[in-house]
Amino acid sequence: MKDAGYEIAVYPGDGTGPEVIREGEKVLSALAENAAAPWHLSEFPGGGQYYLKTGREWEPEAAAAARSADAILLGAVGWPGATLPNGDIAGRALVLGLREGLDLFANVRPCRLYPGVKHRISGEYRSVWAPRNVDMVIVRENTEDLYTPARGRLARGGETEVTVDTRIITRKGSERVIRYAFELARARDRGAPEDGVKRVTCVDKSNVMEGCRFFRETFDRVAGGYPEIERDYAYVDAFTQWLIRNPEHYNVAVATNMMGDIITDLASILQGGMGFASGGNIGSEHAMFEPVHGSAPKYAGKNQVNPYATFFAVEQMLRWLGDRAKDARLTLQADRLERAIASTLAAGGSGTYDQGGSVTTSEAGDRLAAAVRAERS
Ligand code: IPM
Ligand code: MN
Repeated sequence: MKDAGYEIAVYPGDGTGPEVIREGEKVLSALAENAAAPWHLSEFPGGGQYYLKTGREWEPEAAAAARSADAILLGAVGWPGATLPNGDIAGRALVLGLREGLDLFANVRPCRLYPGVKHRISGEYRSVWAPRNVDMVIVRENTEDLYTPARGRLARGGETEVTVDTRIITRKGSERVIRYAFELARARDRGAPEDGVKRVTCVDKSNVMEGCRFFRETFDRVAGGYPEIERDYAYVDAFTQWLIRNPEHYNVAVATNMMGDIITDLASILQGGMGFASGGNIGSEHAMFEPVHGSAPKYAGKNQVNPYATFFAVEQMLRWLGDRAKDARLTLQADRLERAIASTLAAGGSGTYDQGGSVTTSEAGDRLAAAVRAERS
């Protein structure tokens, strides 16, 4: 911590990113009103739209701030037509670049259905899952696997014949993310909704792939150090249907990067949709928190998207910072924010378009800020 408090670097990014980040900042200000706020926010532009304007994804001082900050809050990056010369999305530096550069090895995606939140299948709101059924965290490896830039294209004479993406699974990468999952299961005050059992599920395709076999061997080795936590296994294909049919079985699940990317978006349906899904990109020195819905160009500038994913990202950030710095002030603020979120959702959900309502992004932020003020700090 610096004298002025914790330094939080904020990157609103593209599309709806700035709209939801504005609401996250509103809520942080409300938290700060009647308690000394030990944090300071600095905002930096960057992303695909910035690239189209300037030819740069972000400025050197923005990149430096990510490295020196105590925590990072990201909106979203990605914009139609904003592509780097090598074909990567412009804005990559702010997401994949920071995951690699700051070694943010665990992508932590809580998936909890709050009372008052509707979930939607095939266009209709249905109560397939009760809130008490859905309360898990999916931990995704965040630095290797098919995301490793070990890829290429063979274009003899200019015509593409072959493309290759290499799947890299390392001992170091697997071990630390699996350990993170077990530590999380140990630290969480609740086990699986079904039976209260603390359980870690290894999601893989070890019936086919060598990397997954190694991931599962590593899982077993690490699990040996946590005898009080139940080991559970699922092939990723079977997992997708069990997850939907029987979400109450899951407490913490751990997966490699690409499979984790897919199953976490699927899981978001259990929590009311991507409008409620936040993610922490966590390393041993740095961490970045984000709503995971992306820049949603179709909705940009309409003040329509659901800012709750950002509110959850802010909560995750304060909690991480509180744990890391052993600063109870931050943990208390995270608890306070969580109570305000839960009570606001219970009183009618977010009310935004994705929930069948007409509450705007900024109104949803005003409502939560009011609920934060009403919660004792
Ligand atoms: C996510 C996103 C990113 C990913 C994209 C934006 C590169 O989908 O955070 O899940 O694939 O990891
Ligand atoms: Mn994704």
